[in-house]
Amino acid sequence: MDILFVCLGNICRSPLAEGIARHYADKLGLNTKVDSAGTSGWHNGESPCEGSIKVARVHNIDISHLKSRKVSIYADIGFDLLVGMDRANIADLLDLGFEKHKVRKLGEFGLKNADVPDPYHYRNSDGFQSVYKMLDTGIRNLFQEYFEIKINYD
Ligand code: 4NP
Repeated sequence: MDILFVCLGNICRSPLAEGIARHYADKLGLNTKVDSAGTSGWHNGESPCEGSIKVARVHNIDISHLKSRKVSIYADIGFDLLVGMDRANIADLLDLGFEKHKVRKLGEFGLKNADVPDPYHYRNSDGFQSVYKMLDTGIRNLFQEYFEIKINYD
C-alpha cells in the first residue's frame, strides 16, 4: 500500500503529512511507501517551509531533509493512493490522468470533507499547529480505514 500526499507547493502541507504518516508507519512496522509531491513544481528542490519543519519537530518528527518535487503521472503511477489536501489538488490530479478511485482528499477521512488550508502565508505558528492537527486526525483515520489499525498514541 503506497501512499503519495499531494499539495500545491510540496513545501508546507504534503511534506508534513508525509512525515506524520511515515512516523506512524515506522512505529507500526507497516510495509508501506510514503512520499509527497506538489502539483505546481514552483518550489522544486526546496526544503519544507520553516513553519512545517518547526511544528513537526514539536512532535518529534524530522522533515528537514525532504525536498519538493512535482507530481508526475509517469513517475507516480505506481502509488495505490494519492491523497490531495484540497479540492484544487484533486482536480489537478484527475486532469493529469490519475485514476479516480486512487485519488482521495484528506478531508474525507473524518474531517467533514474539509480542505486543509494552505498555510504558506501564515505569519505565526498557530496556523501550522491547526494544519498539523487536521493532518494528524486525517492520517489516523486513513490508517484505520486502509490498514484497520487504530492509532491512540503520538
Ligand atoms: P503547500 O503551500 O501547497 O502546502 O506547499 C504552498 C506553498 C507555496 C505556494 C502556495 C502554497 N506558493 O504560492 O508558492
